[in-house]
Amino acid sequence: MAWGLSIIGHVPAEPQVLAALTEAVQRQPDAIPLRLHLASLLLESGADEQALGHYLAVLDREPEHQDALLGAVKAAQALGDGKGAALYRARLNTARGTEPVPAQGPAADEDLETEEGSKTAGRAWWDVEASSVTMADVGDSGPARWVVDGYQTLFAEAREQAAFDVLLVPVGAGSLAAAAARFGAAAGVAVIGVEPETAACLTASLAAGRPTAVENPGTTMAGLDCAEISPTAWPSLRNGIQGTVTVADSEVHAAMRELAALGLRIGDCGASTLAALRALATEDACAALSAAAGVSPATRLLLVASEGVTDPEGYARALAGG
Ligand SMILES: Cc1ncc(COP(=O)(O)O)c(C=O)c1O
Repeated sequence: MAWGLSIIGHVPAEPQVLAALTEAVQRQPDAIPLRLHLASLLLESGADEQALGHYLAVLDREPEHQDALLGAVKAAQALGDGKGAALYRARLNTARGTEPVPAQGPAADEDLETEEGSKTAGRAWWDVEASSVTMADVGDSGPARWVVDGYQTLFAEAREQAAFDVLLVPVGAGSLAAAAARFGAAAGVAVIGVEPETAACLTASLAAGRPTAVENPGTTMAGLDCAEISPTAWPSLRNGIQGTVTVADSEVHAAMRELAALGLRIGDCGASTLAALRALATEDACAALSAAAGVSPATRLLLVASEGVTDPEGYARALAGG
């Protein structure tokens, strides 16, 4: 599953986005992807000094972090600090194990990389005019990592609105769940992934201890109908997901009816988490996971409902069924 997003020209970040991310970083100072995302937006917005501060904060924690070193090069260049830029570039080359690249100011910026891996020397990605960048939430490209980084904001914002102990998140290729897993690890929240029983690639991968593809013959949870976990998402999922629950289309349709009765118009992928909660609460096969995650009537749960009524005909059929 992937989506295309065109970025045309220079797109400064909204001040509210920067403020929300800054707050999130203050709350989670060790959340490196979040901090890098903020730093890149600050750099893009011309707040070069603040961006550099965040890159240096990452380097305090991980001195050889290549994205942070590259960011520091760019921020130092933007600040007109050629000496500093050269220093960070030398550290970057050491971290990459490559020969030093002759410094030529901004023209030495080798890191404009498209999905196909081609490079455009001399321009940073945010300087590209009248061209487009394809974003994908699968694979292991820079954009795939940014998608996970961006999703993390969602969980930080949810936490601002209410406290919760357990989080249930729908899983397709795993980017959203990877962000949930990172958030959960930092916040002490147990994270449970929810998959269609006919596309349970995370369940299979966790059982095998490595990314494992499955057959996916079809499900009404179209957004979760994935045969493989994204390589970018896998390390966070392997380390941060407490377990998974698989749900059948019919169980999800029942959950959609239950939600509709509460006045919530939620589509198949979104209702999967309520279906999973019902399974956690009632099914023997889920008892061990339920106990490990600490699910009880007193538990505060966050069910991520990732889809509204995107397929009105399918929604009507689900509501009419049962
Ligand atoms: C409706 C819906 N929910 C959840 C997801 C999460 O999927 P992923 O695990 O691929 O991030 C997607 C992905 O496209 C989706 O379309």
